[in-house]
Amino acid sequence: MNIRQFKPDDAESCFRLRSNAFIQKFHHELSPQDIAFAVNAYMPNDYIRMAKEMPFFIVEHSDKIIGFFNLKQKDTTTAELQQIYIALDTLGKGIGSACIEYVEQWLSSNWKDVCTLIVETIIPQYNSEFYKKVGFEPIGDTFCEFLGHKIKALRLAKNLSC
Ligand SMILES: CC(C)(COP(=O)(O)OP(=O)(O)OC[C@H]1O[C@@H](n2cnc3c(N)ncnc32)[C@H](O)[C@@H]1OP(=O)(O)O)[C@@H](O)C(=O)NCCC(=O)NCCS
Repeated sequence: MNIRQFKPDDAESCFRLRSNAFIQKFHHELSPQDIAFAVNAYMPNDYIRMAKEMPFFIVEHSDKIIGFFNLKQKDTTTAELQQIYIALDTLGKGIGSACIEYVEQWLSSNWKDVCTLIVETIIPQYNSEFYKKVGFEPIGDTFCEFLGHKIKALRLAKNLSC
């Protein structure tokens, strides 16, 4: 497994990875309307734009893209794991945990004042167990907004050594 920076050619793969997760995994927890808004909120060009605005990483294995994640600085001491998506055919193999470890190392080298990593999930039944296993704790309810459509979300936080 290799982690590298996003390149514009990766946008289509990111779009597919995220769309597949919504369509195949999240339908138990979200309405069809929620899914439509959330999927349509990020088209391939949006990933190219995001990669100019924030650190954006691609996970590869044998030259195949198997995941991506990106980070947003919320304030001096807080960063948000804005998106993390692992290919559905490679789930449960430790790749998500390895991405979290990479994020923590990256933060300690690049955003040294960041002491808290947060994540907001609109599908907590599906993935909050993963976040708890890698050290996050739920800190409250919130909303995520996609094209003006609000979806209830859970915010989780992990304290980092800094
Ligand atoms: C959530 C996600 C990133 C986890 O990645 P992963 O590579 O499958 O996770 P790992 O293999 O590193 O799992 C780490 C631990 O969490 C557990 N875990 C992972 N996903 C889980 C799930 N959906 N439900 C319950 N436990 C889960 C694993 O069993 C493992 O436990 P262990 O340490 O006791 O063996 C991945 O499932 C994913 O990309 N899902 C679709 C998109 C998504 O939900 N993104 C987040 C949007 S907010």
